Amino acid sequence: MSRAFAPAQAPDLAEVSSAARLRGELRLPGDKSVSHRALILAALATGQSRIAGAGDGADVRSTAGIVRALGATVERTEVDGGTVDYRVSSPGADGLMAPVSPLDCGNSGTSLRLMAGALAGLPLRVVLDGDGSLRRRPVARIIDPLRAMGASLHARAGDTLPPLTVIGRSPLTAIDYTTSVPSAQVKSAILLAGLRAAGSTTVRESVATRDHTERMLRARGVAVRSEGAPAGGVAVTIHGGQTVAAIDERVPGDISAAAFWLVAAAIHPDAELTLRDVGVNPTRRAVLDLLARMGAEIDERPHGGEDDGEGEPLADLTVRSSALRGIELSPDDVAGAIDEIPILCLAAALAGGPTTIHGAGELRHKESDRIAGIVAGLVALGARVDVDGDDLRIRGGAQLTGAMTDSLEDHRLAMTFAIAGLVASGRTTIARPGSVAISYPGFFDDLERVRA
Ligand code: S3P
Repeated sequence: MSRAFAPAQAPDLAEVSSAARLRGELRLPGDKSVSHRALILAALATGQSRIAGAGDGADVRSTAGIVRALGATVERTEVDGGTVDYRVSSPGADGLMAPVSPLDCGNSGTSLRLMAGALAGLPLRVVLDGDGSLRRRPVARIIDPLRAMGASLHARAGDTLPPLTVIGRSPLTAIDYTTSVPSAQVKSAILLAGLRAAGSTTVRESVATRDHTERMLRARGVAVRSEGAPAGGVAVTIHGGQTVAAIDERVPGDISAAAFWLVAAAIHPDAELTLRDVGVNPTRRAVLDLLARMGAEIDERPHGGEDDGEGEPLADLTVRSSALRGIELSPDDVAGAIDEIPILCLAAALAGGPTTIHGAGELRHKESDRIAGIVAGLVALGARVDVDGDDLRIRGGAQLTGAMTDSLEDHRLAMTFAIAGLVASGRTTIARPGSVAISYPGFFDDLERVRA
């Protein structure tokens, strides 16, 4: 049984061999979505904010770098492998400055889209740019509503792709906007712009996406109303002109990182893993409910009392080897578990019976084309997966055999194939594994820890 390692002659490869058993307790990196928002809201608030237990992936560092470039002081202290504490001192939204050079979002779509919204209502001109992957990700979805609010935005390729130039205006015009794709990034961009609009801005979405922005604004003294829409979904309203207070906050463990271990233990024949302090926000926990529908044995022990719609509910999770069965996922299920679909595809490949994932097209617009990437990797490992338009059909019952897989420089694909390597016979090779550092720099260390 060899360990996950980068062969000396080929440092851009990692190898994972099958594990006899999986045991242990893990603390996940701080939630990536919450960490981005905590930094952005700290930039908009006047004074000092402290963010404890933030994720230390490259994406969150991109947001921290942007906040610094806009003129706030950002101090970063390493706490342990996967988390850091930040102390941000900001002059407040009206004191931020526009740097001459582009704001570097790296690989992070969240940094780009949320920053565009936060800056649209300030009298600044900024350019938001990033790496090759980010330059292929759609931005028309934020340009349309932010232009309707009165900001000027321009992007490459007919205003569809980054770099994105934002020329803000103060105040903006309030809008009532129905999003065309379920996207918390689009909703959040509009709400952050809505803070700087004259009047009430409403965002309507057909499926309620992650509501961290709403909760975190409330925790900072901003009134945000969320109402269930008659045909499902949600309408979120914010009144412009409210002040964001500087506060101290602790970031929950990232459920999207936890998902890799939930599936690892559920598909492995001799496994029991405990995950501490995981954020189980109702709009983020779909992966837990989908795995439960598949028959995963997950024991959830919530911390604290009632969810008040302001903080982030937490739980400890224990997951054991399980007999999984295939299920049908609706487009709403996909929206709720958008970042967990790659690892759920691995669970489906090993489940008894078929799984169909309906309406997964949005996965083509993530850090890579995740539909192409997941199909190529799982098929190389011996699974049967077909794509039919935007639907994925996974046969189930696969016996995986170690093979060469490619992360496409996408962190969630790299981690999915590494987890597959724990149950595949022989050795699984992952090309470009360094992408795990986007959200989970300590991933391969944790993989060694749980197989020991
Ligand atoms: C995120 C929202 C999701 C998700 C991304 C983080 C966020 O994107 O895929 O990793 O923090 O708001 P969309 O809202 O565009 O689907």
